[in-house]
Amino acid sequence: MSRRKGVTTVFACQSCGAVAPKWLGRCPDCGEWNSYVEEVRGEPPEAPAASGSAPISAVSVQPEPRISTALAGLDRVLGGGIVPGSVVLFGGEPGIGKSTLLLQAARGIARAAGEVLYVSGEESASQVRLRGERIGIREERLLVLAETDVTRVIGECEARPPAVVVVDSIQAIRDPALSSAPGTVSQVRECAGSLLDWAKRRTVPVLLIGHVTKDGSLAGPKSLEHLVDAVVTIEGERGSSRRIVRATKNRFGPVEELALFDMTGSGLAEIANASAALLAERRAGIPGSAVTAAREGSRSVLVEIQALVGPPTSGSPRRVALGVDPGRLALLLAVLEGAGVSLSTREVFASCAGGLEVGEPACDLAIVAALLSSVRNLPIPGGAVVFGEIGLLGEIRTVPAGASRLREAAALGFTAAFLPAGNAADAAGFPEIDARPVSRVADFVREIWGRG
Ligand code: TYD
Ligand code: MG
Repeated sequence: MSRRKGVTTVFACQSCGAVAPKWLGRCPDCGEWNSYVEEVRGEPPEAPAASGSAPISAVSVQPEPRISTALAGLDRVLGGGIVPGSVVLFGGEPGIGKSTLLLQAARGIARAAGEVLYVSGEESASQVRLRGERIGIREERLLVLAETDVTRVIGECEARPPAVVVVDSIQAIRDPALSSAPGTVSQVRECAGSLLDWAKRRTVPVLLIGHVTKDGSLAGPKSLEHLVDAVVTIEGERGSSRRIVRATKNRFGPVEELALFDMTGSGLAEIANASAALLAERRAGIPGSAVTAAREGSRSVLVEIQALVGPPTSGSPRRVALGVDPGRLALLLAVLEGAGVSLSTREVFASCAGGLEVGEPACDLAIVAALLSSVRNLPIPGGAVVFGEIGLLGEIRTVPAGASRLREAAALGFTAAFLPAGNAADAAGFPEIDARPVSRVADFVREIWGRG
């Protein structure tokens, strides 16, 4: 293993900081197992130069121009494009489309901002070119470098400074100073650290691709999350071409912003109308289905909540929640019990269709509506959109952004809405929607379940 001059490595316990010259399975100091990770120790730094503090009022703030990827959804997820000098980690399972997304983003950046260096540590340059051809990419300003040595990657960046660097993937890159294998926590962290230093020094953004397995077992990218400025995840259900891109961390913008894409035969295609896509496979007028207007970042998106309530069983019935918070489902079942609808002996399945997750309390009323609709075997009256938060005492509470939710419902052709009484005023601007305010779960049950 070649070593850079003045560079040594040690193994440090990630739990207590103890240091050893070689790897240990158990820390003799704190007793933690598998906590030793190889780290680079350079020469002691020279006396640091004064770095120039200033009164907070004198700190200059210039709105940094952001770099657009020309993928509107991805730009939105990033908070309006890529911030110069930022480091963004793109995580996702193998095969989900990370390389495809970043290659498409690289094309957009190359057109608008200048040269993009696409570092491929996993595939040869010709494989990258073949993928590019499939998507129809032949930008002169998109440069491909097949390289795994982080020092040479940084050397290339220094020799020909690009506008943006893409590293595919961080697990394939290694620092020759470390004896650990590529993809180990030490390597991933050290290489990301070197790239991060470079990004900050030259104010050039670095986009890192990281593989994440379903159970999150690969420690590499997880250990990077606190290091980078933003984390964007790419998700999709098995067998579906739908891809959900969202920020789970963003120092320069909101999280929970999301974009939908379709993996096609020629790359990822943006889905401009998320609500229409999420409701595309819905069959209106069937029992057990309710449409809610959920907030995703700065937008409202219509999603379908489905519920299936089985016949009474002996023993303890199952409760299954997919894309719906199981704790919330349990709470709503208890509230329904209080409103005179007992499902305690029945199996209950609730899901959010389309691979999305709804964690927002504003979706409570739609979950209850879907449950009631399934039990009663009747569709939601008037095909109404349903939203509202439910409190422990069965009260239906006002939710934020009522007008935005109704606007999205109106845009998709909905003509009725069950909503909290506290949001009734929001409906004033939507004469096309028959607003039916409800203030208690028991009233709502009477409306769609019992009719008296
Ligand atoms: P890829 O971007 O290589 O995934 P990752 O980098 O996350 O491992 O793409 C994965 C899959 O997408 C691959 O099975 C082929 C498919 N694909 C398409 O369907 N259409 C395309 O245009 C491209 C480039 C890939
Ligand atoms: Mg890839």
